[in-house]
Amino acid sequence: MEGAAIVGAGHTRFGVRPEGPRALAQEAIRRALASVDRGVDGRTIDEGFLATLGFGGWQLGNASTVVAEAVGATGLPVTRIENACASGGFAIRAAIRAVQSGAELVVVVGVEKMTDVDQARRRYWLGVSGDTEWERLSGLTFAGVYALLASRYIADRPDAREAMRRVAVKNHANGALNPNAHFQKAVSASDVDRAPRVAAPLGLFDCCPVTDGAAAVLVTRASNARRYTDTPIYVSGVGAATDRLAVQERDEFPHFAASRRAAAEAFRSAPFGPRAVQLAELHDCFTIAELLALEDVGLVGPNEAVAATNAGRTERSGDIPVNPDGGLKAKGHPIGATGVSQVYEVFVQLRGAAGARQIPGAERALAHNVGGAGATATVTIFERG
Ligand code: COA
Repeated sequence: MEGAAIVGAGHTRFGVRPEGPRALAQEAIRRALASVDRGVDGRTIDEGFLATLGFGGWQLGNASTVVAEAVGATGLPVTRIENACASGGFAIRAAIRAVQSGAELVVVVGVEKMTDVDQARRRYWLGVSGDTEWERLSGLTFAGVYALLASRYIADRPDAREAMRRVAVKNHANGALNPNAHFQKAVSASDVDRAPRVAAPLGLFDCCPVTDGAAAVLVTRASNARRYTDTPIYVSGVGAATDRLAVQERDEFPHFAASRRAAAEAFRSAPFGPRAVQLAELHDCFTIAELLALEDVGLVGPNEAVAATNAGRTERSGDIPVNPDGGLKAKGHPIGATGVSQVYEVFVQLRGAAGARQIPGAERALAHNVGGAGATATVTIFERG
């Protein structure tokens, strides 16, 4: 089967942005087009995917036009994908599949505008991505669901609180080096401990923020990638899976079977296994989620995430650096943009273009994107050719 490669990527600054979603998406697309080393005419793009939840209920309506206008190809077919916080990962997967089916050049953009919504509507729009009857309508927020997962995880692992604290400190330190991050300020362990509780045991620095932003990437056929650049980033495998929406109806708790299945599928076609990954973008919407993901995608063995994190292995200087861009925790989590933003980070890191946060010599990377509290998940694996 034809392989796929990334040949361009663009990112807006994440944070509180004055622009609407249309302008954010178009900024990311323009930056992605401008990033292609040998240049590209947007009119040669033959397929587009747009990932967005439509937070706050804003109507993009005829989403194709946003993407088509940005690339200057008004005939372009564009499909909108919504799988909650994993929308971006599913859009990346759709683009890879399109290339495998014969498309020449595909644009993927993820976008979300979240900060123009008040608290009550924000709770509604985050909550609709989880179970309604037993979770949202009984007052359980996503922070609440992840607090339940964290409580269960901590109960069996006495050092897990220290690992969650380290995830927060690490990802804020990484975000401080990323000019696109929402928060570019390091925090100390005592800042994490002293922060207000959001849903015990999770405090403010255990939670991702509410963020506006967009990211875009260009995917092409592996055999044609060098037409665009000398340093394409090749897709080695992709996997996706779903689980039951309501956490209490799942077969397992607190781990995510969807993440595990997505990783197994992705690694089936990769020429290397999870232990050969040199850099990972993991879906750390809450600090506990990074620990669960480390085990679910197989970067460490079962029950090894706490020890790996507390030993510093996931820091930028460690042997499996996780979320060098600050992760959802510090870079921000504009729902539909997140999965595409992860691939942006992989693209710049594997090309050695990540500036102050560069992981030296990384050649194999993984991106893991989760929707809701593990109801949907994607894993994509990449390598430098
Ligand atoms: N991490 C660090 N700092 C944060 C933050 C976060 N997650 N969220 C807000 N802040 C900061 C703000 O920048 C602000 O700082 P300032 O006073 O220096 O300007 C301060 O905390 C208060 O911000 P505010 O927007 O009033 O916070 P809030 O109480 O309304 O919201 C949360 C805080 C944690 C409840 C909110 O960020 C949240 O809901 N996060 C989770 C989002 C989510 O569930 N996403 C889906 C995941 S599956």
